[in-house]
This record gives sequence, structure tokens and C-alpha cells, in this order.
Amino acid sequence: MDKTLQDNKERFVELLKSTQREGVESVIKDLESLGFFEAPASSTQHLNYDGGLVEHSLNVYDMAVMLKEQIIARRPDLEKLLPTESIIIASLLHDVCKADIYRKVMRRRKDAIGTYEEYQAYEVDYSNLPIGHGEKSVIMILRSGMYLEDDEVIAIRWHMSAWDLPFQSFELSKSLNVARDKSPLCSLIHTADTLAANLLERKLEILRS
Ligand SMILES: [Fe+2]
Ligand SMILES: [Fe+2]
Repeated sequence: MDKTLQDNKERFVELLKSTQREGVESVIKDLESLGFFEAPASSTQHLNYDGGLVEHSLNVYDMAVMLKEQIIARRPDLEKLLPTESIIIASLLHDVCKADIYRKVMRRRKDAIGTYEEYQAYEVDYSNLPIGHGEKSVIMILRSGMYLEDDEVIAIRWHMSAWDLPFQSFELSKSLNVARDKSPLCSLIHTADTLAANLLERKLEILRS
């Protein structure tokens, strides 16, 4: 295993175990057998290489910790609603739904002089438990036998926020509004996920030189 990948995996496991949440060992075991630690974060966008998913999860955690510090400096009353344990769990496990969706495939493309070359890519396959994104993460964690607090369920389920409302379902829209009001962790994890993916991980097209 690549050194960075191994270091990221160790940090991920250590952080998760530090929560001492019942069932954490079985979550780690299940993630291991699903290939979570080798999976990419996406097929063509951010961190689309082996180990990208664990790297992304740690980036979301680091971003959430940074944002929390700034937020509680202005709103000290929110500190007790954003416990470290919940930030670790929601950040590190928000995308476990992606652990089993990527398959490595070989594709062909033309190189600079027009000759075909083979390259390795990822194909996405949603056939294992096709129930949606955040919902699948929550169910996978619970099925592994780990308890989640209500606001952790909300933060993981709604980490895509309104991006998970493609058909404008009335009930889902209302649920998201209530989720945001009830759980500051929900907004924190969504924002940390967005900033990690869009500013730390994606290749940006810089408009200013
Ligand atoms: Fe996600
Ligand atoms: Fe994510």
C-alpha cells in the first residue's frame, strides 16, 4: 500500500476509534472489506485515484474543525452543539456510500501523436443498495452496528443539502429546512464537504492570473 494511503488510513482509523462509540470497530471492519480505503473520491472529478475517498473524508474533517473554531469564536453558544466526537463521525463517515460503487476499467484514448493508448479509469455502479447518497451512508453505518445520534444522522443524510433535492419533493424540502434548524452539525458538514471538494481537491480554472 502506498505510504500516503497507509498514513491516511491510520489517521482515519485512529480518529474514529478516539470517539469510543459502540460499534466503531465493526464499521472499520466493514469498510475494510468493502474497499473503502482504496476507493477514489469520484470517478472523474475530485481525488479520482486510489485512496481518494479516505483523503477526502479527512479533508472534510480538517475543514469542519477549522470552521467550527471560527464559528464558536462568534457564537460560543454553539460549541456544545458541535461536539468533536460528532464532527469526527459525520465527517469521516458521510461518504461511506461510495465505498462499493467504483469499478476499475481500462479505456482507450489517443495520445499526443494520435496513437491509441490504454489508461485506467473508474466506472460507477449504483447497483448495491440503490437508495440515494446520504441515506445509504446512514443505513450502512447503522447496519454495521454503530449507534448514531439524531444530529449525526441528519448531518450525514443531508450532507449534500439542497443538491439532494432534484425533483423538489415537498416533504424532502420541508425536512431539509427543519434539519438545518435542528442540527448545526448539518450545515457544518455540508459546508466543510463543499469547501474540501471544491477548493482543496478539484482542479480549478483560475480566472485571475
Ligand atoms: Fe457525498
Ligand atoms: Fe463528500
